[in-house]
Amino acid sequence: MKEMNRRDFLKCSGKACGALGLGLLLGSNLLQSCASGLSVMRVSAEEGFVSLPLAQLDQSAYTMIRVKNFPFDIGVQKTTDGTYQALVLMCPHANQPLTKTGSGYMCTMHGSKFAKDGALLKGPSAKPMTSLPVETKGDQLLIRTAAFHS
Ligand code: FES
Repeated sequence: MKEMNRRDFLKCSGKACGALGLGLLLGSNLLQSCASGLSVMRVSAEEGFVSLPLAQLDQSAYTMIRVKNFPFDIGVQKTTDGTYQALVLMCPHANQPLTKTGSGYMCTMHGSKFAKDGALLKGPSAKPMTSLPVETKGDQLLIRTAAFHS
């Protein structure tokens, strides 16, 4: 059996450490994706609006967006009448982030529940979720994030 000198040991353990780190990094990203079941689109607002390509939105029934310097994620979905709805994932009870569930949204702070369209299903929140004004312009959906006040 060949003896390993100190230099070989350090080289080997460095590679193992790098591989382990990469594995943990990839694993944590996968876990994050699996936990929510949704991918999050990162975007920026310009002059108070977020602009999203309609063709991209039409590829899935629901799109979660994370707007730079906006305090909550936003769920974008097509409604039954073919228009779009942008819901702020904030619980109106005490301005806490909401969790997307299969049937809508829930607040882990005090248990409020909301339907897919943001309607209040269960308190203590007394209000539904906040919708942001949206409009289509050409091949883009514009979401007016500047209209949000928590
Ligand atoms: S903050 Fe959501 S129920 Fe209280």
